[in-house]
Amino acid sequence: MKKILLLGANGQIGHELRRSLSAQGTIIPANRTGLLPEGTPCEVADFDHPEYLPALLERHRPGIVVNAAAFTAVDRAEEYVDAACRANAEAPALLAGYCSEHGIPLIHYSSDYVFDGTGDRPYREEDPASPLGVYGASKRAGEVAILESGAPGVILRTSWVYGAYGSNFLLTMLRQARASAELRVVSDQRGTPTPAQLIADVTAEIVAAHPDTQGILHLAAGGETSWHGFAEAILAGAHRRGLIPRLPRVLPVTSSDYPARASRPAYSRLDTGKLEALLGRPMPAWETGLEAVLDHIPPDLPLDSM
Ligand SMILES: NC(=O)c1ccc[n+]([C@@H]2O[C@H](COP(=O)([O-])OP(=O)(O)OC[C@H]3O[C@@H](n4cnc5c(N)ncnc54)[C@H](OP(=O)(O)O)[C@@H]3O)[C@@H](O)[C@H]2O)c1
Repeated sequence: MKKILLLGANGQIGHELRRSLSAQGTIIPANRTGLLPEGTPCEVADFDHPEYLPALLERHRPGIVVNAAAFTAVDRAEEYVDAACRANAEAPALLAGYCSEHGIPLIHYSSDYVFDGTGDRPYREEDPASPLGVYGASKRAGEVAILESGAPGVILRTSWVYGAYGSNFLLTMLRQARASAELRVVSDQRGTPTPAQLIADVTAEIVAAHPDTQGILHLAAGGETSWHGFAEAILAGAHRRGLIPRLPRVLPVTSSDYPARASRPAYSRLDTGKLEALLGRPMPAWETGLEAVLDHIPPDLPLDSM
């Protein structure tokens, strides 16, 4: 069995990868604390100290490295610039250097926020990156470092990640809906909500069936919506399933009504044509993914601590 070093095992995508990659090899999970959510010990990989990564790699000599760790707090990245760059660019560069030297595939994730959102059609892999903030710039720097290293493997750019686990927009909406009869949600940013489960399943398929895939690929659900449209769909689906006691009103607001530290792209839908050609099928619509995620949320899920 191939050894798969999985960095960021506690994140939304990392959590799903522990499931989806289990048929592809022996997973060596790693995270910042050295403890998985269920209390099982795992390897420590803290990207604030990338200098310790070579020893981890040497100790395990994995057959594949999958990096789902990242500094993903878009607004906080504006303040903690060095930490964002260490986690999103320096650590991936170091992993890529090792993978290149040893001919090991590196699977890495990047973001729709490498684009500035001024486009009028879904972004293709080769469209010029022009990030609006520190997060997007640090993710782009990570992409460039990996591509320049010549490491085998693939960078999967994805968007608006959510799931039944972790910290994300869907769980925030459910929590707010339990507390309030009226929510205000931005309606002038458009993109594609993508379940972590879909990302993890496609990753496992690439590892199993298309191991020689190289470069950047866009991986997102089909279609597009605004955060407001996504919120309405989440709440309608959650109400139908009894996950929230009442259906709150969702008022559309503009990004300027809801000032955030970081600017976000107004339009960041990704063109997934290349991935669809590789897999031989279209990506499922975002609405289909949402139904599947809502089906996995237990009615008694505690949301207060999320
Ligand atoms: N979330 C999105 O909407 C989105 C959109 C596009 C692309 N992506 C990309 O998809 C990938 C996975 O994202 P996700 O949604 O699964 O994010 P997530 O749930 O925030 O998980 C990220 C993981 O990275 C870990 N991490 C953060 N800083 C670290 C550090 N200094 N050292 C080691 N680990 C660190 C976190 O650890 P702790 O659990 O200890 O905090 C967390 O488990 C990332 O590359 C991200 O850029 C995400």
